[in-house]
Amino acid sequence: MDSNKQLALYCPPSSRLERSLLKILGIETSCDETGIAIYDSHSGLLAHCLHSQVALHAEYGGVVPELASRDHIHKILPLIDSCFQQAKLSHLDLDGIAYTFGPGLVGPLMIGAALAKSLAFAWQLPSLPIHHLEGHLLSPFLDTHVPQFPFIALLVSGGHTLLYEVKALGDYTLLGETIDDAAGEAFDKTAKCLGLPYPGGKFLAELAKQGYPLFKLPVPLLSKDSLDFSFSGLKTAARLLIEKTLPAEISPSATPSIQADIAASFEAVIVETLTQKAMRALRLTGVKQLVVCGGVSANLNLRTRLKKETEKVGAEVIYPRLEFCTDNGAMIALAGALRFEAKKTTSLNIEVLSRSSLH
Ligand code: KG4
Ligand code: ZN
Repeated sequence: MDSNKQLALYCPPSSRLERSLLKILGIETSCDETGIAIYDSHSGLLAHCLHSQVALHAEYGGVVPELASRDHIHKILPLIDSCFQQAKLSHLDLDGIAYTFGPGLVGPLMIGAALAKSLAFAWQLPSLPIHHLEGHLLSPFLDTHVPQFPFIALLVSGGHTLLYEVKALGDYTLLGETIDDAAGEAFDKTAKCLGLPYPGGKFLAELAKQGYPLFKLPVPLLSKDSLDFSFSGLKTAARLLIEKTLPAEISPSATPSIQADIAASFEAVIVETLTQKAMRALRLTGVKQLVVCGGVSANLNLRTRLKKETEKVGAEVIYPRLEFCTDNGAMIALAGALRFEAKKTTSLNIEVLSRSSLH
């Protein structure tokens, strides 16, 4: 069958795509969360279900890709059913399916992409690959108080630390990025050195609440006039400090105050770096709104500090709701709805990318 005929076979009735009110099923499987949602371009989010694999990977101290893939296979269809029940809809009500094509782990991405394409074929719907980072960038649009274009986005997750100027849907200018570790990765690795469970970011932040930033750790790349980040030096300095200060076998109750002080000192440096760079991006571009998204945007100290600093210069910081800071299907369904509305076409190939930049 030639590819044009094939495409015709997979195309939905055109009237469906021409409707401006769209109900889109979103599928997110880039890493260790199975996220499914249904977003309606008129009424907003109709349903969202999430299964986290944290417990599955905890004993290994990190994500095991093969286990992640197998778990997605088990959870994805029941979660889609749950979403239909929540929204009181069936597949007949859908106008399209959006799925994460990358970046992420290839196996988990393939599960989501293959299922999205298969369902689209069976239900005669269009399917649309969505960039995971675009999902994060647009996640504040899931709430009522939404940002206005153009805005600056600080995207801080387990795998990425990026500053974008977001001019419109699909118009993203990269202003700065990490030259080594991502902020979330530095959080997780330092948390592990402190004997905290995986994924450590939120546990380190909890511990930091009980301590004071008494230890001096290097503040990376602040003197440089760029908008890039670097966290590997900080991570190493924190590890050396932990090895020097704490006994080799850390028991959670043995040295609580020193542990908490190290956590607070580490968190303070990350918050300082992210704040300074985000404020620099606002200053250099003259943009007045800052969106902070991705898993690390759940960090309360970062939120408090950025609110204070943006208010000082008459700017505003906007966050996604806490549950949408980390990976979820709602942001993919939303990005899909916006892109379907913008009448972007779809491809037949099941293609996923473990690495992919967003420009
Ligand atoms: O966006 P996300 O769910 O997954 C990726 O796409 O990477 O981000 C996960 C990252 C992890 O590194 C996790 O430790 C971090 O977000 N994180 C936090 C907090 N909550 C999650 N880091 C600092 N403070 C938090 N409260
Ligand atoms: Zn993510």
